[in-house]
Amino acid sequence: MNIKKIAVVFGTRPDTIKMAPIILELQKYPEQFEVLTIATAQHRQMLDQVLDVFEIKSSYDLDIMAPKQTLSSLTAKIITGLDEIFTIEKPDMVMVQGDTTTTCIGSLAAFYHQIPVGHIEAGLRTNDKANPFPEEINRRITGCITDLHFAPTATAKKSLLLENVNPSTIFVTGNTVVDALEYTVRENYKFSVPILDSIVNKKRKIVLVTMHRRENWGLPMEGANKAIRRLAIKYPDLEFLFPVHLNPIVREVVYPILQDLPNVSLIEPLDYLDFVNIMAKSFLIFTDSGGVQEEGPHFGIPILVLRSVTERPDAVNYGTVKLVGLDEENIFNTAVKLIDNKAEYNKMANAINPYGDGLSAIRTIKIIKNYFGFSNEVVEEFVPHK
Ligand code: UD1
Ligand code: UDP
Repeated sequence: MNIKKIAVVFGTRPDTIKMAPIILELQKYPEQFEVLTIATAQHRQMLDQVLDVFEIKSSYDLDIMAPKQTLSSLTAKIITGLDEIFTIEKPDMVMVQGDTTTTCIGSLAAFYHQIPVGHIEAGLRTNDKANPFPEEINRRITGCITDLHFAPTATAKKSLLLENVNPSTIFVTGNTVVDALEYTVRENYKFSVPILDSIVNKKRKIVLVTMHRRENWGLPMEGANKAIRRLAIKYPDLEFLFPVHLNPIVREVVYPILQDLPNVSLIEPLDYLDFVNIMAKSFLIFTDSGGVQEEGPHFGIPILVLRSVTERPDAVNYGTVKLVGLDEENIFNTAVKLIDNKAEYNKMANAINPYGDGLSAIRTIKIIKNYFGFSNEVVEEFVPHK
């Protein structure tokens, strides 16, 4: 059999977490696939910890991260680096995930080499090019180039169909973020950083916070942090845990507003294992993250999303997620209603994950096998279960 070389490109914390189940599944079939793992290292520490968790070694590492890097410099470094690798390695397919600059430029470099592209988490759209920025456009560019669209949900498939994507190239697989959770969340998990044990031992309700989006930098992010501050003061018995993204632009906003409060712990980004296991024990989540919005529903934890629009409407429709925007007053008032009203809280605490069932990577690899003619299996689409 003619072994196919699959180049899997990743570079940041979220695309690596969600690509890990794909890499691990591909590696199960050495007689069919040679897996080339290519880290752009758009992120450094936040990427390395994910690779450690999944015990993935990169075949290539472009090591491009620089402090406060601009989108243009990222783009230039990624395309130059991948161009060289694709010239040497001549892969049969390039896989990219999600919506980062690594994703978009990874697909573009593959296109220039006329290599087929598989896009994991295809079809998420807000139809607003400024929100999320630059991710909405990253996804669209990737979508134009992609040959196999792995849509996580039926909603994402619908968006692709509206863009006249050939239906025979779209597959609803579920999101690999749920596969990754099943690999990492454990009942008796032991945290690797002592502060998490001490927070859990206080036996208070934990409120988990993350923020990093570019379109929220500056005043919007300030508003959200001020709302968190007011909530921490109003509810001294709640324990706020905020692992702060390593981006200095984010840290410059968060620390001055929240660092002096006794029930707010500002900590370094958590390793993925610690993060999802503390998430499993949380009472409420505030986030502007894409991935966290998809993980919270797995545990039935209400999530207030600090964004004006989301390309992930499914959990909003199921009721576990509410979009609260960036307005300080609105965030504060919505959170108060939720914290003070048990019925309201219970209505949101809905442990149905519309994004996946843990089998996304298996479905995806079956489809890739069909694409290369290794098999001809009918692959059932992912359907969420109530
Ligand atoms: C990137 C992605 C965003 C994704 C986010 C996940 C783009 C344009 N943005 O945003 O879609 O949601 O990752 O976190 O692709 N830094 C470190 N160490 C790290 C990682 C980042 O110091 O391990 C700092 C550096 O100063 C770096 C800065 O953060 O310049 C920004 O990193 P960058 O990847 O450009 O953007 P993010 O905001 O992380
Ligand atoms: N995450 C993590 N440590 C943290 C915060 C988040 O490992 O301190 C994980 C989280 O479980 C999720 C992913 O990072 O899977 C989300 O990444 P991020 O919010 O940076 O990016 P986005 O999903 O918004 O693109």
